[in-house]
This record gives sequence, C-alpha cells and structure tokens, in this order.
Amino acid sequence: MPAVGGIGPGGGKEYPGNLTPFVTITCIVAAMGGLIFGYDIGISGGVTSMDPFLKKFFLSVYHKKHNDKTTNQYCQYDSQTLTMFTSSLYLAALISSLVASTVTRKFGRKLSMLFGGLLFLIGALINGFAQKVWMLIVGRILLGFGIGFANQSVPLYLSEMAPYKYRGALNIGFQLSITIGILVANVLNYFFAKIKGGWGWRLSLGGAMVPALIITIGSLVLPDTPNSMIERGDIDKARQQLKKVRGVEDVDEEFNDLVAASEASQKVEHPWRNLLQRKYRPHLTMAIMIPFFQQFTGINVIMFYAPVLFGSIGFKDDSALMSAVITGVVNVAATVVSIYGVDKWGRRALFLEGGAQMILCQAIVAAAIGAKFGIDGNPGDLPKWYAVVVVLFICIYVAGFAWSWGPLGWLVPSEIFPLEIRSAAQSINVSVNMLFTFFVAQIFLTMLCHMKFGLFIFFGFFVVIMTIFIYFFLPETKGIPIEEMGKVWKAHPYWCRFVENEEYGNGVELNKGAVKNV
Ligand code: BGC
Repeated sequence: MPAVGGIGPGGGKEYPGNLTPFVTITCIVAAMGGLIFGYDIGISGGVTSMDPFLKKFFLSVYHKKHNDKTTNQYCQYDSQTLTMFTSSLYLAALISSLVASTVTRKFGRKLSMLFGGLLFLIGALINGFAQKVWMLIVGRILLGFGIGFANQSVPLYLSEMAPYKYRGALNIGFQLSITIGILVANVLNYFFAKIKGGWGWRLSLGGAMVPALIITIGSLVLPDTPNSMIERGDIDKARQQLKKVRGVEDVDEEFNDLVAASEASQKVEHPWRNLLQRKYRPHLTMAIMIPFFQQFTGINVIMFYAPVLFGSIGFKDDSALMSAVITGVVNVAATVVSIYGVDKWGRRALFLEGGAQMILCQAIVAAAIGAKFGIDGNPGDLPKWYAVVVVLFICIYVAGFAWSWGPLGWLVPSEIFPLEIRSAAQSINVSVNMLFTFFVAQIFLTMLCHMKFGLFIFFGFFVVIMTIFIYFFLPETKGIPIEEMGKVWKAHPYWCRFVENEEYGNGVELNKGAVKNV
C-alpha cells in the first residue's frame, strides 16, 4: 500500500501514513452509519405503496386508490398522515443533530454512534410490531433521533481516522453506503411485498434492526480517534493510537498539529457568533445554500416515493417497486463514478455536468407525463414504450445527482470550513439538509396532486438556479489542502472582497492542524 508523505501539490502539509488494513476496516465499519440512513430513505416509499400496509394504517388512502376509479391519478396518495409517516423522521433528525454535536464533542464520537445505533434499534422494533399509526410515527421519530446522532458523529469519525490523502474518497464512501442502504431497502421491499398474508411491510420496517445492530456493535468495537483521546486528555494513549492508525512510527508532526488544533479550537468560545463575522460570509453562505440546493434537486421525490410515483403514472405495484430497484442500482453505480472522478475532474465540473443532465431529464419527464396525463390526470391506456422512456430519463436524472449534488453536498461543506468554525458550520449544514428533506417529503404528495407534471418543472427551475450559483460562486477545491483553503476565497472574483485582509482564524497557525480536526 502506498505511503503518504512529503509536500502536497498545493504546498501544504501531508503527514506520513499508510492506508493500513486497520484504518480501512475501521472506516468501512464506521461508514455503515450511512447504510442506516440510506435504509430509512429507501424503505418508506415501498412500504407506503403496499396495500396491506395502507389498509391497516391509512384506510382512506387505500380506498381512494382502489375504489374510486375516477379519481385523478395525481392525487390518489395525497394524505397528510401518510406524508407525516415519511417526513417525521427528518424533523427528529434535525433536532437531534443539534443536540448530538455537544454529545459528540463532550463524550466522544463512539458514544454518539452507540446512542444512534440504540435509538435506531428501538425505533425499528416499534415499527416492526406497530399496531396503530401513532406507533409508526413514534418509531420513525426514534429512527430520526438515531440518524441525527449517527450523521453527526460518523463523518467526523471518518475524517479523523482517514489518512489525509484519502479523505475525499472516504467522504464519498459515506455517501456510497447511503446509496447501498437505499438499494438494499428497495430490493427487500420488492420481495417482502410478495409475501402472502400481507405482513411483508413488518419485515421491511423491522429490517432496519439489522443495520442498527451493525452500527451498535460496530461502535463498541471501533477504536477511539486520536483526536477524541487528545480532547479528553489521554495524550500518551492518543500518540500510540495515531501510530497504530497510520501504520508508521513517525507521527510527530501530525500529532503535534492535532494537539495544537485541539488547544486552538478549545480557545474559541463562541463558534456560532464567530460564524456571523464578515470574513466567514462565503462559508456561511455555502453551509446554508449547498444543503438547501441538494434537497431542491428534487432527488428525494424519487428516493422516497419512486414506487408511489411510478404507481401514479400507471405502473402496477410490482413493476413500480421494480423501477425503484432500478433507480437504486443507478444511484450506487453513479456514486462510484464520482469516487473515481472527484479528484481528477474536480468538483465544479461534476456539479455543472450533473446539473445540466438533471435539467434536461426533468424537462423531458415533465413533457412526457404532461403529454399523457394532461391536467386531469386520466391517461387512458399507456403504451409500454412510454413507461420505458419515463423510467429511462428518471434513471439518467438520478445518475446526474449521484455523481454531483449527492456526494458533493456532503463533501464540499466538509472541506471548506476553517477549523475555528468547522463544527458549528457543519451543524448548520446537517440541520439545513434535514430541514429541507423534511420539507420536500412533507409537501411532495400535495404538490404532485396540485402541480401535476409541473412538479418536475418546479424542481428543474431550482436546478437551473443552483447550477448558475455554482458557476459563479463556488471556487474549485480539488487538490487543495484544507489548511490552504483560505486562498481559494481570496482568489475568487466575488468572495475576495469579504476575505481580502483576512489571515483566517488566528492565522495559518490555527489552521495548521485543521486537517484532522473537524
Ligand atoms: C442526500 C439524501 C438523498 C441521497 C440519495 C444524499 O446525499 O442527502 O437526501 O436521499 O443522497 O442518494
């Protein structure tokens, strides 16, 4: 395995260290936090299209779907309670991600992961055995709390463990495990929906216990990060740990920087207030706009509701679920493309290409659905080629997202914040993401009912805006060491005015060790 050392391309530091089997396995286990998040994203849409589930909990939706043949196709799933079932999780995750930042800082990353795993586990149990709607909602709120804790601590843990040179790939590794989680959930839904007796949905929901157990047990066996040990005063143990993680004896430079960074970040008393200073305007803007835009690509319309959506445009239950499996495979495969290309082609190229691809597909899908379903939502007989065209362009749209806004929506914020505001800015990033995930999940079915095929034009409009935003406002961050990142804002035609005379934090000194200290 290649050793990492010497001076980086940007003239910044690189610390010696190997991609050891120890660190690789550790990171794979930790990244499974993403698997759980993904499982949750993928499972709800399939379950809400299963008849026995609707019959038990959402009878009015069930009747609307089956008895009232004249009902407008666009509106057959429009139910506030059904929507609440899906979106309650994200509101809970938003709240707990704010709480989790303190727990993670004070008690360590492992405890937050353990906490996250246990909350998932209880939530999955309650959901699997649910008898009433309130049990479903309570279960999902607990899953949401679990996600908040896991999403706060897992990326942080990965960043601290990963050798500097592999941070980018490992970051997208987290997104990869999200997409694998979504796919697994879609496949399981497909098979569980076929179970005679109609209790397959219990397996789908209860199945979340498996990834929950993995992260719970994982958090118990995972080693602590050196950063976390330093923060809690275990200096000697931390040095030994760093040697083990990096697989080399010569860790002094990185170790000293970690200690310095930890001391420096402890001196910052008001990270939230800090964030409002003029010199952090570019960072604050990105911490809010990137997650906002990521959700307004409309991706979760597909991720949560693909089977419902495909059902609405005339697919039978089985092929609707199958289509969700197909989009899931595309999502995973395109994420791998991103892992391959992100450090070669750069972030901007992926953002711009992915954006253009999504806009095109949204326009085509809107036109196709509009042409067949019109305003009244009564399509008549749908030819087979029609379904193929819609699914094909939805897949191309998903691929565009999966190599741009999907992984970069998490990667870019994690690499642009200087140490002294990093944890606060990261919390904003996570909360804004959850808030708009909630928002889209909550309003989608109503929007489909009222805006009809115009829904795709609505999200397409946002993708146009965000692509222009990236073109003008996001500097390229490829190949730039984190501690050198201040330079990219200074060189930027718009952002330079905010950072002109800034040293960033307490100068380069503060940022030196920032690579490992999130
Ligand atoms: C987003 C999720 C989305 C997923 C799809 C993630 O980056 O945050 O909201 O469902 O990608 O793969």
